[in-house]
Amino acid sequence: MKVRLLKKGPLQIDGDIPIKEVLMVMDDSGKVTEFQERKTFGTTENPKHICRCGRSDNMPYCDGRHSQVGFDAPETTDREAYNAAAETIDNSAEKAVSLLQSAKRLGPVGVSGGVQIVGEDGFEYAPKMQAAICRCGQSKNMPFCDGAHVHAEHMVIK
Ligand code: FES
Repeated sequence: MKVRLLKKGPLQIDGDIPIKEVLMVMDDSGKVTEFQERKTFGTTENPKHICRCGRSDNMPYCDGRHSQVGFDAPETTDREAYNAAAETIDNSAEKAVSLLQSAKRLGPVGVSGGVQIVGEDGFEYAPKMQAAICRCGQSKNMPFCDGAHVHAEHMVIK
């Protein structure tokens, strides 16, 4: 089970990993207080391609729009530091991909349970129990979410 960052394109999900839509419930200060699972996407298509430029008209799936908007997301995170902070993976934990959103806007793709993330060049990020991959295309810490989606107009749910 892997998720792969396709160059200048979507997130590819290999294998039978459940994809869920999860609502982040927040308090008045914007702090997440609860995660509510809303639905599981029932596609049999494999691999699956999840939009990460934030512009698809067929969310959460890629519709090819990334090439029209010139999406380019070179990985800027400190890979060495990320992998150095390795975690013990609980193999009994469910491996899942969660499409996170608040009541008003879309957020990152949560990857949990030690699912392997593979970079555009094949780099293997150390598996973690939780990671959040940017799907607005605006993070300065690619491929991970840095919170920039809260200012991205195209992530507002209409
Ligand atoms: S989804 Fe892009 S910064 Fe959070």
